[in-house]
Amino acid sequence: MKLGQRLQTIANMVPTGVTIADIGTDHAYLPIYLMQQKITASAIAGDVHHGPYLSAQGAVAAYHLDHAISVRQGNGLEVLRPGEADVAVIAGMGGANIIEILSARPEVTATLKRLILQPMIAASLVRTWLYVNNWIIIDEQLVQEEGKLYQIIAAEPGEMQPVEPILNEIGPLLWQTKPPLLKQHIQELIDHLRNVVAAMAAGGSEVINSEKYREYTRRLNELEDRIACL
Ligand SMILES: C[S@@+](CC[C@H](N)C(=O)[O-])C[C@H]1O[C@@H](n2cnc3c(N)ncnc32)[C@H](O)[C@@H]1O
Repeated sequence: MKLGQRLQTIANMVPTGVTIADIGTDHAYLPIYLMQQKITASAIAGDVHHGPYLSAQGAVAAYHLDHAISVRQGNGLEVLRPGEADVAVIAGMGGANIIEILSARPEVTATLKRLILQPMIAASLVRTWLYVNNWIIIDEQLVQEEGKLYQIIAAEPGEMQPVEPILNEIGPLLWQTKPPLLKQHIQELIDHLRNVVAAMAAGGSEVINSEKYREYTRRLNELEDRIACL
């Protein structure tokens, strides 16, 4: 099994010898790769939808890994008993969905030793959730695949020092380590926010005088200041 850059970067964040739960597994490529490479001891591959569940089952059987990867259909962490997995990967979903999954089964989330999250949107919400719920971000990576930029966040239980709100947008460790894709990442945040601000401004003076508009404009200015420093 050869992974694309995004899933490979996620795989690189999985410690050796753990039991992993890949929540929203779809094709189960990640757990199959991790078992083939003998990185994980065992794996649980969960998906809420029947199509992806069947596709994961088929792939696991095709690679003769039924003994090592348990494929389960269910919503989020419902497929896990507390303590059954050491690491949960939740990749390829929106940030709000990731937060919902982590919040819905606190008794399972509390027994996880590492989270590896790849939100498609709203990564700042995920970082805020991690901070509020006592997870420390231990690694952040940017990956480009087929012209699209992805953020991958790894976290472990612990108390995180508060960071400036703008670093929740950028990623505190991305800002610290300054990977080559950082400028492009911040530019994408700026482009998105410029569109939001422009759409709001079209709403007229009442919107322009709103606290929300001022907040977005402030955030946009901060991002522009940050990119100018790179
Ligand atoms: C875009 S795919 C990502 C597949 C894989 N994780 C990856 O990153 O390549 C998203 C998958 O998450 C599943 N999914 C969405 N919400 C879910 C939830 N609440 N619980 C479990 N699976 C979910 C979908 O059915 C879909 O198969």
